[in-house]
Amino acid sequence: MTRQLGMAGVAALIVFAGSLVYVGYGFYDVGADTPHWDITRKLIEVVRDRSIAVRASKVELPDLQDEQLILKGAGQYAAMCVKCHLAPEQSDSEIRPGLYPKPPNLTEQRIDPKTAFWVTKHGLKMSGMPAWGLGHDDATIWSIIAFVTKLPGLSAEHYKDMVARAPPDEEMESMGKGDVKKPENGGNAGAGMSMQTEQKGEKKH
Ligand code: HEC
Repeated sequence: MTRQLGMAGVAALIVFAGSLVYVGYGFYDVGADTPHWDITRKLIEVVRDRSIAVRASKVELPDLQDEQLILKGAGQYAAMCVKCHLAPEQSDSEIRPGLYPKPPNLTEQRIDPKTAFWVTKHGLKMSGMPAWGLGHDDATIWSIIAFVTKLPGLSAEHYKDMVARAPPDEEMESMGKGDVKKPENGGNAGAGMSMQTEQKGEKKH
């Protein structure tokens, strides 16, 4: 028994020393143009999917059918998301080939709105997906999600038309004018709706 424990201790020490050498000598290739090993990729995917699923299940889903809300989201999507997540009938963009992991094509892939909200608000570590919640309130993020749920199946023409009809971005405008006053009820989209759908928790990981 003691002998087995001793062996296990030696094995653990060898693994630890091996890891130190591997990291210390810079053997790990951190470049985004070298894919993960299959097992690493699968592990990251499981951790990511479970983490998102547990958090997204606590998000409260508001009504996303409001026409003005969807139009507002179209403008936001075109300004902030399209370069990575594409527009209808667009097959690639300048930034996409270099991103690892590759952003899903949101014109083809339908994503559950609670999941999409959580990921859009909080972003994903080590992936290039930004946490948009740091600069945008929940109502604005929900407008984007309202639009994203309509995106699969939309024609390029319809997409352009919706983006053209989108209301001007109040946040951007007020920044330009140095006016920090928030529009009442978050502006015309989502007016009167309570869209604070998540509790705030500040932890480090
Ligand atoms: C700089 C590129 C970039 C921009 C800009 C960007 N994303 Fe992403 N996004 C990513 C990447 C990369 C992933 C994939 C991460 C992964 O697979 O782990 C991703 C994943 C997602 C997902 C996937 C969730 C899932 O479960 O599959 C959603 C939804 C999403 N982004 C929404 C948005 C929205 C909405 C915007 C605009 C407000 C946006 N993203 C802007 C890079 C970007």
